[in-house]
Amino acid sequence: MKRGAWIGILLMVGLMPSAHAADPAPRAVPLVVPAPQTMPDGPLGEAVRQGLSIVNATKAALPDNVGNALNCASCHLNGGTVANAAPFVGLWGVFPEYFARSGRVETLADRINDCFARSMNGQPIAVDGDPMRAILAYIAWLSTGVPTGAGVEGRGFAAIAAPARAPDAGRGAQLYAQRCASCHGQDGAGLKAADGSYVMPPLWGPQSFSDGAGMARASVAAAFVRTKMPLGRGGSLDEQDAWDLAAFMTGAPRPAFAGGAKDYPKGGRPAR
Ligand code: HEC
Ligand code: HEC
Repeated sequence: MKRGAWIGILLMVGLMPSAHAADPAPRAVPLVVPAPQTMPDGPLGEAVRQGLSIVNATKAALPDNVGNALNCASCHLNGGTVANAAPFVGLWGVFPEYFARSGRVETLADRINDCFARSMNGQPIAVDGDPMRAILAYIAWLSTGVPTGAGVEGRGFAAIAAPARAPDAGRGAQLYAQRCASCHGQDGAGLKAADGSYVMPPLWGPQSFSDGAGMARASVAAAFVRTKMPLGRGGSLDEQDAWDLAAFMTGAPRPAFAGGAKDYPKGGRPAR
């Protein structure tokens, strides 16, 4: 046999999925944000751009569905393109997915509406309306080139080790005053421009996320804060700092989410 043919066979064997693979889930692929100039032209491109603008300025775009002062990008940083800040890149091909919190298989639209109801303390948007189509078009474009079923590296939030000491909200309050209040305000209410628009998002109080939001869970808040806050200085806090800050933040008053008692109907509730 010719050398080329042998190489061909070896390559094929190498590419064949192993029938005995213990974990059928494809490996995570690197997070690559498509270049803006690759946005399609025409009506599809318009939808992608509208989706981007909704994600960055959600309250302005959909005031009836947003019950607080946040935008999707307040948490899904830079329009959902940042690793370990729940990036949207690659999400197109990983849904539907079982979600323990609801105990059901969720579509991507379901997950978007979870955040409208909880993170935005608002109302779900119509699944068959233009805003949902636009957000989906944007996420599909962001997922260009990510194989179906594969997540990206940095999906969700960075893992954080369990706290060495019981989280201390009092110490968290001190850290907050030193490291966070300059942007998010002494009272956690964020900062407003003269025209009333928010330049810094609220962390607690009536204009922040509800107590049913993912960010209201200490483990999620700690993971986000440790790697991403203070904005531009992510990674400057250690894990205990992040847990203490999360204890302080999640213990502060915020809107109540109706229906949270029905969460995790089939178990799987995280310890923190
Ligand atoms: C207060 C922070 C926050 C805001 C604001 C927010 N989200 Fe989320 N989002 C989260 C968290 C935290 C998760 C992780 C899942 C969980 O535990 O709820 C998440 C998960 C998601 C997911 C699933 C991600 C994955 O990897 O499976 C999607 C899609 C999503 N959000 C879309 C949106 C959209 C669209 C908006 C705006 C309408 C939005 N989110 C606003 C915090 C937020
Ligand atoms: C330099 C200003 C700045 C500092 C300091 C800062 N943040 Fe933020 N933070 C932001 C901005 C801006 C956003 C929203 C992201 C965006 O719009 O790009 C944000 C978002 C957040 C969010 C998610 C959105 C929300 O409002 O709930 C949390 C939680 C958060 N910050 C916590 C903290 C904590 C805790 C500290 C202190 C360790 C901190 N931040 C320090 C600017 C800052």
